[in-house]
Amino acid sequence: MKILIATEKPFASAAVARMRDEIEKAGHELELLEKYSEKSQLLSAVSEADALIVRSDKIDAEVFEAAKQLKIVVRAGAGYDNIDLNAAIAHHVVVENTPGQNANAVAELVFGLLVYAVRNFYNGKSGCELKGRKIGLLAFGNVGRNVARIAKGFDMDVYAYDAYCPADVIEAAGVHPVRNQEELFATCDVVSLHIPATPETRNSIDHALVGKMKKGGVLINTARKEIINEAELLRLLSEREDLKFITDIKPDAHEDFLKLEGRYFSTPKKMGAQTAEANLNAGVAAACQINAFFKDGCTKFQVNK
Ligand code: 3PG
Repeated sequence: MKILIATEKPFASAAVARMRDEIEKAGHELELLEKYSEKSQLLSAVSEADALIVRSDKIDAEVFEAAKQLKIVVRAGAGYDNIDLNAAIAHHVVVENTPGQNANAVAELVFGLLVYAVRNFYNGKSGCELKGRKIGLLAFGNVGRNVARIAKGFDMDVYAYDAYCPADVIEAAGVHPVRNQEELFATCDVVSLHIPATPETRNSIDHALVGKMKKGGVLINTARKEIINEAELLRLLSEREDLKFITDIKPDAHEDFLKLEGRYFSTPKKMGAQTAEANLNAGVAAACQINAFFKDGCTKFQVNK
């Protein structure tokens, strides 16, 4: 089988080497398309692929149409909002993700960004400590759970709300469950977003919700930019000069957010999962899932059933 790794933002080379080992050991052939700049390159590369491994690469109906041999796409990572699941179903292609494999990397970045923000972006002025502060996790999946673990090391008081995770599961992890997202924002000094981009969550982080935060609140987004209602958040931040917004996904209105001097920071390029370990874990998991699919028909991580 021909297995294509198509990554506009490539994996670390050590991860690609291990993925190649796994794929070739199983008797398959690896093709690599990295740092491509034109969609036409992707369309031509997929034309003979039986399997495809991607990161945030957009896999839409046109790609599925061009990929006549394609049987499986694995998104090496958690969020699969970049893949058109209906088009995949129409073309009888299995779509999988690799849940949890890059979660620790994203969770560690939350604290890298958070310390930077509460220390006033290292401008020399006194900031504040995280110890004793309340952090709220919006969603308690793999990343949220890792953030909770690290937050406890900082001696933070951890709260969470997850529409799909029962309160007793949250409580069993030593985290305070709250009844809804409004209560989470009203309770916590820091809110960290870990929800996927879905029709329900798009634009859901809005003026009314973030406006519930206490004085000096910090909002941190390492999830998806689509969940933020940018116009409303900008309006709120111009009304509430005590709030800060830090993000790993540059907003479309980045230039406008930059005007909020000392209260906004964005990484230049999404880098939550950009560690050697996360690349290796997610990349090798993707390769092994494809091998298992071709060997035994295993579809354990399928997301388009
Ligand atoms: C994910 O959904 O797994 C993360 O957002 C990482 O995405 P990336 O592989 O595009 O960095």
